[in-house]
Amino acid sequence: MPRRRALPLWTLLVPLQLALVPSPLAGCLLSPCLEVIPNTTFRCTELNTSGVPAGVPNTTQNLDLSFSNLKSLRSNYFSSVPELQLLDLSRCHIHTIEDNAFKDLHRLSTLILTANSFHYLGTAAFYGLAALKKLVLVETNITSVTDLPIGHLHTLQELNLGHNSITSLKLPKYFTNLTSLRHLSFFSNKITYISKGDLDALREGNRLNLTLVLSLNNIKSIEPGSFAKIHLGELVLRSSFENFSVMHTSLQGLAGLQVKRLIAGEFRNNYRLSDFQRGLLSGLCQVQMQEFVLICFKKFESNTDTLFDCIGNVSTIRLVNLGLEEISEVPVSSQVKQLECKNCDFEEVPALKLSHFKELRVLRITKSTSLRNFRQKFRDLSKLEVVDLSENRLAFSGCCSHLFRNCSNLKHLNLSFNADIRLTGDFADIKNLLYLDLQHTKLFGPGSYPVFLFLQELIYLDISYTKTHVKSQCTFCGLNSLQVLKMSGNSFENNRLTNNFKNLTHLHTLDISSCMLVQVNQNTFDALSELKELNISNNKLLTLDPGVYQPLQALRVLDFSNNQLTVLLDSALETLPDSLVLLDISQNLFDCSCAHLNFLKWVKEKQELLQNKELMICHMPADMKNVSLSSFDLSSCHLSASKVAVTVVMLLSAVVLLLLIYNYYVQLYYSLVLLSGCKHSAERGNTYDAFVIHSSKDQEWVIKELVEPLEGGTPPFHLCLSCRDFLPGVPIVTNIIEEGFLSSRNVIAVISTNFLESKWCSFEFDIAQSWQLVEGKAGIIMIVLEEVNKALLRQRLGLSRYLRRNTYLEWKNKEMSKHIFLRQLTGVLIEGKDWNNEKEKLK
Ligand SMILES: *[C@@H]1O[C@H](CO)[C@@H](O)[C@H](O)[C@H]1NC(C)=O
Ligand SMILES: *[C@@H]1O[C@H](CO)[C@@H](O)[C@H](O)[C@H]1NC(C)=O
Ligand SMILES: *[C@@H]1O[C@H](CO)[C@@H](O)[C@H](O)[C@H]1NC(C)=O
Ligand SMILES: *[C@@H]1O[C@H](CO)[C@@H](O)[C@H](O)[C@H]1NC(C)=O
Ligand SMILES: *[C@@H]1O[C@H](CO)[C@@H](O)[C@H](O)[C@H]1NC(C)=O
Ligand SMILES: *[C@@H]1O[C@H](CO)[C@@H](O)[C@H](O)[C@H]1NC(C)=O
Ligand SMILES: *[C@@H]1O[C@H](CO)[C@@H](O)[C@H](O)[C@H]1NC(C)=O
Ligand SMILES: *[C@@H]1O[C@H](CO)[C@@H](O)[C@H](O)[C@H]1NC(C)=O
Ligand SMILES: *[C@@H]1O[C@H](CO)[C@@H](O)[C@H](O)[C@H]1NC(C)=O
Ligand SMILES: *[C@@H]1O[C@H](CO)[C@@H](O)[C@H](O)[C@H]1NC(C)=O
Ligand SMILES: *[C@@H]1O[C@H](CO)[C@@H](O)[C@H](O)[C@H]1NC(C)=O
Ligand SMILES: *[C@@H]1O[C@H](CO)[C@@H](O)[C@H](O)[C@H]1NC(C)=O
Repeated sequence: MPRRRALPLWTLLVPLQLALVPSPLAGCLLSPCLEVIPNTTFRCTELNTSGVPAGVPNTTQNLDLSFSNLKSLRSNYFSSVPELQLLDLSRCHIHTIEDNAFKDLHRLSTLILTANSFHYLGTAAFYGLAALKKLVLVETNITSVTDLPIGHLHTLQELNLGHNSITSLKLPKYFTNLTSLRHLSFFSNKITYISKGDLDALREGNRLNLTLVLSLNNIKSIEPGSFAKIHLGELVLRSSFENFSVMHTSLQGLAGLQVKRLIAGEFRNNYRLSDFQRGLLSGLCQVQMQEFVLICFKKFESNTDTLFDCIGNVSTIRLVNLGLEEISEVPVSSQVKQLECKNCDFEEVPALKLSHFKELRVLRITKSTSLRNFRQKFRDLSKLEVVDLSENRLAFSGCCSHLFRNCSNLKHLNLSFNADIRLTGDFADIKNLLYLDLQHTKLFGPGSYPVFLFLQELIYLDISYTKTHVKSQCTFCGLNSLQVLKMSGNSFENNRLTNNFKNLTHLHTLDISSCMLVQVNQNTFDALSELKELNISNNKLLTLDPGVYQPLQALRVLDFSNNQLTVLLDSALETLPDSLVLLDISQNLFDCSCAHLNFLKWVKEKQELLQNKELMICHMPADMKNVSLSSFDLSSCHLSASKVAVTVVMLLSAVVLLLLIYNYYVQLYYSLVLLSGCKHSAERGNTYDAFVIHSSKDQEWVIKELVEPLEGGTPPFHLCLSCRDFLPGVPIVTNIIEEGFLSSRNVIAVISTNFLESKWCSFEFDIAQSWQLVEGKAGIIMIVLEEVNKALLRQRLGLSRYLRRNTYLEWKNKEMSKHIFLRQLTGVLIEGKDWNNEKEKLK
């Protein structure tokens, strides 16, 4: 084998390199701080030293020191980082905060102290925090708010005291100072009694919009009068009471409260009370509220419950995750304007009872898996405007007029994501409908009969994926005001558009993607002179016929991707309207022969108009297959005699070269790498963060464990994988060198048994090593999968695992190890990342 004869250049350089390395395994140690966003955001977790790490510059705005071992915060502890806006000190074993610890942080707006067990807080501990908006004291072993030294934090908007052992809701006098407070959470504490006077501090001043969270406490009683004359934005009482009778009597104690939204109920994973019993909410008769939300009760006494007794005059009611099988008795002259039931247990749309809500304007019953029938009729809801019955399992026929008697104000009807619905075409009683959404529900009727004839006012119709087969030319007759028609994922007779849209003169958006279309007849779009957006992608159209698209003179967006176009003829290019700002003709079967030079030129000129250019690829002729249209070389179409001669000579040289290559396999590659490396390194940008060398058998692992977390994380990294990023048509060796090594800052080698067995992988790895030594770039990151034979590994990887620049990581298939692995990997990759470039891309 020629391989044997090669003198591996890098073996000469290794001892030299080694001599310069102080500690052979230094590469394994990671710097304590991760620069998440240059100069402003740093993550320095799990430190074992006190103080702000020296590497954090004074420009830092966000600093995460969580899981460090800080113990005690002295005065002016953070003086080196005066620009901080967010400081995370979660789980830092802090027991003491001395006076003026945060003194220099005039701009700090968020301070997180979660899970530190305080023994001592100086009375001036929080002095200097002149802009603090959010203070998180979750799980800090606080038993009382009385002595919390926060009375001077006038700017505080959110105070989170969750998961502590606070036993009393008595708010000290200093709360009157906290006039900006909007959110006060006592989530999961030990409050048992609420007494008159506890909330006095909220009564003073004009507080408008405070959210008070008392969920997961163990309230045994609320003394009547405790909430009298209190105004709140929101009061949350989920799993706050031990049993039914305690909840019943405690709610009586809310008398006199004025609140915009009251949320009561349980948590799905934490039911204390699962049954809703008679009279539970009777205390709410004395509460003034605009919105009431009831969450998570499993059982309701059927039909005897008194759910609406005291909330019948609330403007908005939301019922979520309730085992409600029937609608409870509705009080006469109820004032409810908006009613929502999400994930309730109805089997039938309870239209009869709901019709007693005479003031109802918005009704939503969604995500109820047992809801199948719609037989009862809504009657005389003259104010009803919105009915949303989406995402249930409804199957019924006779839609829709007779189900809505005398509901003439109905404007939105959403029946999408249901099972199946038969439309009769009778919309006479609801002919003022503006929006009708039936997507993803199997429909009977449309396509065969002109079922929309009555809907002369309708402006929005969605019948996407409804298994509609358009046979009748009058399918959309009557929709004279229609502006948006979405009907992707359906079909047309003979897979052909004929005169289907003749009267839709106001249409501005038409989606007929994925309709299996093979042809569009002349005159189809004649009436659509106002159309702005046409999506005809994912069909099987062979041509963009100028005559057909001529009438679309207002078109701005045309999506013609994923069809079978070979070319746009000159006549088609001329008819494209000037108004067009976005044209997608990607994923078609383009013919790049020189006969279509005009089209190819046009593609080059219209780069701004064209979308998804990287997916515009030659399909023909065979030698051009898979070449990207935008990188197509126009000059190749002007061949002269001399060039032919040159080509012949070049071909001959190529043959000679190939012979040579065959003989001097590795030497040649290395010199090629080294030479081209030196030549290009200056001009090439680093397009990728890393080039991944791996065995094709590990493809799945690479995608799941590397590509997905790294490319999807923050910051996102760009990886170069041979199967994905290599330019098609370019010889593979050139690709490895130019697209792989020269365009990437790092090389990641995924070392597995498959890798060690593959000759190709060893070859790539050898090139990577010599490239690294010559270019002097960052290193090779070796990821060793757990099942590898260690002896074999040592032999194969040779000395390179001891190089200073290289990083050697082992991967184990455990959640915790994966997490650490990924942190180390991102830590290595983030060094030297080109942020300017990154910002450009994000814009
Ligand atoms: C970070 O700060 C340094 C020194 O102040 C400066 O040279 C560099 O441009 C800054 N980087 C960014 C991305 O702002
Ligand atoms: C942190 O430092 C202390 C001594 O200051 C030492 O006892 C402890 O083992 C160190 N922990 C770690 C994880 O290094
Ligand atoms: C930050 O440090 C630099 C020197 O490293 C200094 O010139 C600059 O004045 C400092 N800025 C602030 C706000 O302290
Ligand atoms: C919480 O504080 C009490 C004293 O108030 C102390 O006895 C207890 O150990 C502390 N808990 C923790 C977890 O530090
Ligand atoms: C409340 O604010 C006033 C004025 O800023 C201040 O004098 C007083 O000390 C504050 N009260 C508390 C308990 O911090
Ligand atoms: C009240 O606060 C809530 C959230 O805390 C917010 O969504 C709402 O817009 C606020 N209302 C007013 C009138 O400020
Ligand atoms: C409800 O809880 C209270 C307080 O713990 C207790 O006194 C009462 O007996 C309980 N009632 C029922 C019905 O369990
Ligand atoms: C609801 O309002 C009506 C009149 O608008 C009134 O008669 C009725 O008592 C009120 N019900 C409740 C529970 O406040
Ligand atoms: C519709 O309501 C009007 C009055 O609002 C009433 O006269 C008429 O009988 C109702 N029609 C039906 C079909 O219920
Ligand atoms: C209808 O409901 C579906 C599912 O909830 C939603 O995605 C869609 O936007 C709604 N349609 C309209 C017109 O609001
Ligand atoms: C088409 O629209 C015109 C005017 O808007 C109307 O007179 C005609 O009846 C409509 N034709 C159909 C088939 O809907
Ligand atoms: C056209 O429809 C397809 C799916 O049918 C969708 O992926 C694409 O984003 C749509 N195009 C535009 C421009 O909205």
